Amino acid sequence: MNAPVEGSIFDNAWLALREPVDHASRAHGLSQLAGRALAARSAPKVVDLGTGSGSNLRYLSAYLPTETRWRLIDHDADLLARVAAHAGHAGHAVSPHVTTETRDLARELCPAIGGADLITASALLDLVSDAWLDTLCRSAAAQRSAVLFALSVDGRIRLTGRTDTDDRALLSALAVDQRRDKGLGAALGTAAPAHLINHLAARGYGVTAMPAIWYLDTRQPELVAALLDGWAAAACTARPAEARRFKSWAARRTADITAGRSGLEVGHIDVLGLPGRRTP
Ligand SMILES: C[S@@+](CC[C@H](N)C(=O)[O-])C[C@H]1O[C@@H](n2cnc3c(N)ncnc32)[C@H](O)[C@@H]1O
Repeated sequence: MNAPVEGSIFDNAWLALREPVDHASRAHGLSQLAGRALAARSAPKVVDLGTGSGSNLRYLSAYLPTETRWRLIDHDADLLARVAAHAGHAGHAVSPHVTTETRDLARELCPAIGGADLITASALLDLVSDAWLDTLCRSAAAQRSAVLFALSVDGRIRLTGRTDTDDRALLSALAVDQRRDKGLGAALGTAAPAHLINHLAARGYGVTAMPAIWYLDTRQPELVAALLDGWAAAACTARPAEARRFKSWAARRTADITAGRSGLEVGHIDVLGLPGRRTP
């Protein structure tokens, strides 16, 4: 496997911090619809792309038939090993219906999704390119897989309470970094949900998109600090000359939010595509 591109490796501590907010924010109705779509199939096959430590499995399995067969795919073997650790921690063995595969989705997308009744992912879509999505949707349509991409950033960021002179500069540099190639082609960033919807609709899918917004305030101090540090680091990658400015912004804004002087909303979208039913 080639050396991973900067921005394609994720810290387990970050994934653990975001998991409770991710699960609370998701469009639960879309997960129910996905479950209904699989209910008629015996032992349905689900593939989760960019699994990380297994957050999507832990959320979605409650909505899917109990005999669902899961394939969990990521290029980071250390994160995949955490799926079993999580299961052990909860006092359960890893289900024999769950397997993990270390694969680079830049080179092995088609073998990864082959035969799936449902192709799903969470917090992955902003990393991918339009060409990657085209391949995914073409293969999904050919085998009539349902598609559920959750928690994709959509670019809506709302800082409430007070304005900061550096908000605009930080968010604009962040948007530049979101379009940087993270190993899966020129990243679509916050435009990715619209591209996914268009690709699915063009192939006759019935598509439903619903918001999955993070509302952050004094209740999640560690997540806020990690998120804003991450945004500052991404902004510095795009505009290194402004590093000092972006780091101070993150410190000020984290202090604001954790002290209750402002709140933060981060827009995400969940998208479900079901084959063969056209959008009205
Ligand atoms: C933001 S994390 C999301 C993880 C998990 N789905 C969740 O919701 O917590 C993105 C995941 O995509 C994986 N990833 C990034 N590029 C990849 C690639 N080229 N092939 C396979 N996995 C990749 C990362 O290792 C990481 O686990």
